[in-house]
Amino acid sequence: RHFKGEVRRLEGQRVLVTAGGTVERIDPVRYITNDSSGKMGYAIAEEAVRLGAKVTLVSGPSALPVPAGVELVSVQSALDMREAVLSRFEESHVVIKAAAVADYRSAVIADQKIKKKSDSMTLELIKNPDILQELGTLKKHQFVIGFAAETERLDEHALDKLKRKNCDLIVGNDVSQEGAGFSGDTNVVRIFDRNGLVEALPILSKKDVARRLLELTADRLPTKAS
Ligand code: CTP
Ligand code: CA
Repeated sequence: RHFKGEVRRLEGQRVLVTAGGTVERIDPVRYITNDSSGKMGYAIAEEAVRLGAKVTLVSGPSALPVPAGVELVSVQSALDMREAVLSRFEESHVVIKAAAVADYRSAVIADQKIKKKSDSMTLELIKNPDILQELGTLKKHQFVIGFAAETERLDEHALDKLKRKNCDLIVGNDVSQEGAGFSGDTNVVRIFDRNGLVEALPILSKKDVARRLLELTADRLPTKAS
């Protein structure tokens, strides 16, 4: 595919993007999920294709149209997403983890619909593996970008996540702010690297946030000998 006049700055790069929220089953008719719409991740996938990348999108359930030229891998749970991402990590040059992975899943998935009994019930949750943190441990040549969804002390929490998870960049968004976060078409982000703030973007469409993030990424990739 050709986009006349576009500089294909990610030509030859294999980009793996995760998007959407994961779905953690409780029983055949119930699950735990979150408000993620997938829009940020889908916009990143679409813009990466425009810049010439070969793009795989690992997504939780979403009704969004799959951008042209993107290979979609649909997943449900965090464990599914982990498997889909880890099995494609080696071949990837850039990994962008925009997905809102559930931090916990139900300790047991009931085979049958759970019947109501007493006046209260307790659902035991167990922690999901942190996929981004695993990537940070396994990472060799890959350029890894995380997201940080916060409602307070954005800079501090985002930088802490970047370091803890060994990312190259982290995109912090204050999801409680007007025009930012999960469900809308716009976002307000602050992008950090190991040394601190790289860029504070104004309110932009998710498409423009994606474009700027990918430009910053292209600037930081090793130049190809070709
Ligand atoms: N992430 C992940 N696997 C998880 C949880 C999070 O890969 N089990 C990734 C997300 O895709 C995102 C980054 O880690 O790129 C940060 O997610 P976030 O929910 O903001 O941070 P957590 O580390 O889960 O911390 P908390 O929710 O307590 O703020
Ligand atoms: Ca989390």
